[in-house]
Amino acid sequence: MIIDGFNRVHDYLRISLTDNCNLRCFYCMPEEEYDFTPASRLMQATEIYELAKVFTDNGVRKIRLTGGEPLVRKDAAAIIHSLSTLPVELTLTTNGARLHEFADVLTAAGVRSLNISLDTLQADKFLFITKRDLFHQVKENIDLMISRGVHVKVNVVAMKGLNDTEICDFVEWTRLTPVHVRFIEFMPFSGNRWTSNKVLSLQEILTIIGAEYDYLPLKGGAHDTAKGFIVPGHAGTFAVISTMTAPFCSTCNRMRLTADGRLKNCLFSKEETDLLTALRNGQEVLPLIRKSVGGKARELGGQFAASLQTIQAETIENRSMITIGG
Ligand code: GTP
Ligand code: 5AD
Ligand code: SF4
Repeated sequence: MIIDGFNRVHDYLRISLTDNCNLRCFYCMPEEEYDFTPASRLMQATEIYELAKVFTDNGVRKIRLTGGEPLVRKDAAAIIHSLSTLPVELTLTTNGARLHEFADVLTAAGVRSLNISLDTLQADKFLFITKRDLFHQVKENIDLMISRGVHVKVNVVAMKGLNDTEICDFVEWTRLTPVHVRFIEFMPFSGNRWTSNKVLSLQEILTIIGAEYDYLPLKGGAHDTAKGFIVPGHAGTFAVISTMTAPFCSTCNRMRLTADGRLKNCLFSKEETDLLTALRNGQEVLPLIRKSVGGKARELGGQFAASLQTIQAETIENRSMITIGG
């Protein structure tokens, strides 16, 4: 098992396959021109497998592939296939734009659930947010995955002045569709134009929904990022990921491997441990993993809740979201 200094068992690994993406969401990408990491600096497919195996040999039970957009990697299908041979629950967080090309690969790999990002139900707003005219493709792909029996969670980054008027439209979507909508409080990362007045909080989201619907809380899993709710009679559910106002660090079980092979023990940790170079040098990586997780802080994500109004986004030192994968 991989355990940190606060007795938190780490059995969930998020692997970023690439920092490249086929969309350009402003809240994820840095504002300035961004050069994607060249392929030579990325983990190769066999290296991803070798590193993942060290984790699964030591208690990891869930692997989530992230990006950028994981499905833009040319060898994404081969990577998904190879990881599906490990004894883990394999899943992905994707923007959904290429899912129609991967439906069979995902079924064959036994992928039973997907987290798909979609911040608006309006095609013109989707174009504004992502700079790509792919709303209908993404929506169709969500329906396709649901029709194949996949458990689909839709991630909606909730922002004042952007999609706050659509909160109830998303809840309405859950009436007949077995989709699990999750509103995420907007988080600051390098260059993503975060300001506190754009954050739509858990309480504000529930107030908006409560004005139109009666809802009940759902019992969550021990390590859930989301607080779940259901409108009785609806086929789907909604939830809020309260990253900013009610963080969930005390139950954290996550580690992150960036596309260039560095282990981040927390979404907000500055330190990174270069597992890829160690692997390429024939060095044992398990002691490095244990050291990194052993040094994990108690609650870096908890830093925001007390001082939301005074956070200066430009002083936060972290990679931009596109290079971490959420
Ligand atoms: P599951 O619980 O496995 O469904 O996944 P998830 O909700 O962790 O993953 P997803 O990639 O869908 O991320 C949803 C949102 O949660 C994103 O905004 C992530 O950045 C955020 N998130 C995921 N893990 C953490 C975490 O450990 N800390 C914080 N603060 N946010 C996280
Ligand atoms: N704040 C909150 N969530 C974010 N995501 C990307 N950037 C941010 C941010 N600044 C979400 C994406 C994706 C998940 C991995 O993280 O929408 O669903
Ligand atoms: Fe791409 Fe996802 Fe970032 Fe949007 S949020 S630019 S889809 S990685």
